[in-house]
Amino acid sequence: MTTALSQQLISWRRELHKNPELSGQEFATTERIRRWLEQANIRQLNYPLKTGVIAEIGTGESLIALRADIDALPIDESSGVDFSSQHAGVMHACGHDVHSSVMLGAALLLKAREAELPGRVRILFQPAEETFTGAQQLIDAGVLEGVQAIFGMHNPPELPVGTFSARGGPFYANVDRFVIRVTGKGAHAARPQEGVDAIVTASQIVTALQTLPSRSFSSLESVVVSVTRFHGGNTWNVLPQTVELEGTVRTHSHSVRAAVPEKIRQVIQGVATAFGAQAELEWQAGPPALVNSEHWATFSQQVAAASGYQLKPAEIQMGGEDFAFYLHHVPGVFVSIGSASEYGLHHPQFKPDEALILPAANYFARLAEQALTSLKQSSPQAVNA
Ligand code: NI
Repeated sequence: MTTALSQQLISWRRELHKNPELSGQEFATTERIRRWLEQANIRQLNYPLKTGVIAEIGTGESLIALRADIDALPIDESSGVDFSSQHAGVMHACGHDVHSSVMLGAALLLKAREAELPGRVRILFQPAEETFTGAQQLIDAGVLEGVQAIFGMHNPPELPVGTFSARGGPFYANVDRFVIRVTGKGAHAARPQEGVDAIVTASQIVTALQTLPSRSFSSLESVVVSVTRFHGGNTWNVLPQTVELEGTVRTHSHSVRAAVPEKIRQVIQGVATAFGAQAELEWQAGPPALVNSEHWATFSQQVAAASGYQLKPAEIQMGGEDFAFYLHHVPGVFVSIGSASEYGLHHPQFKPDEALILPAANYFARLAEQALTSLKQSSPQAVNA
């Protein structure tokens, strides 16, 4: 049974891997997952979704959710595996194919115990994680209604298979994007004194922004400021009138995040004024920090240890994860389960070890059932009964 299930999950994972689809375009992926759930007689819930699948197992009042993401990335695969992407320029380079097969496995295992389940397990196959839009779409569609706790995973390639980590409190970062427009005055490159050099001004701004983490916020707070695009000019002998900078800020605390845009504005306007230029900031707030529930983090670690995982301390991530949106509505925990890939996430040679799939499926099935049991025991009805 175990070998057969493992083979089944690996073959599904490979089929997803061969046929990756970008965020919001997971139509064939949705069809495949629907078909596999149907074959297993697992009921699907109808929500107004363009892509993505919601399944449910069990009956009763208590309800928890498991979440897998299903989208791929705009990357040309060069992993060399014989089930490589058949769609040029698209690749499952973040392991969402693995997450999906893990939750399909959990669904099959829970289906086999449906009669004994003390409640319902809703399984969310969520589109568009990479663009940080899918979780919110599902929430807007109403999939969290009645859900008392939610669980999900990512696969860190730097951790060996068989290792597990989780932490209560902040885990993934607030992810914000900014664009800075610096306006000077164009001039002949040989006569800069007749203009206002937007390139020199923007260069000073890039450097000055790096003082934000060290001088504007406590060293105990996490703040990363990265300028990732510097765009200005068209040729060698003209000083451009404008320069555009783009980048990202990563933080974990809500108050630090809220204070950052004003600090950036002060720095860029101060520097620009010193050079006789102008600077304006466009701020685009992305997904919030992912904050795990302390209770469910401890719970998940206990279940993981009992499932044979080796527990590792969880390192705080500076990346984003749109599971954070669910945690604004219901408590839960997002965990790391090692995938031992030589190459990292979003790398064209990313190659997670499929040996993680079956144990992780077993873990989530167990976690779901035990979470339902504990919710039932702690509910007022149960106390009165
Ligand atoms: Ni991912």
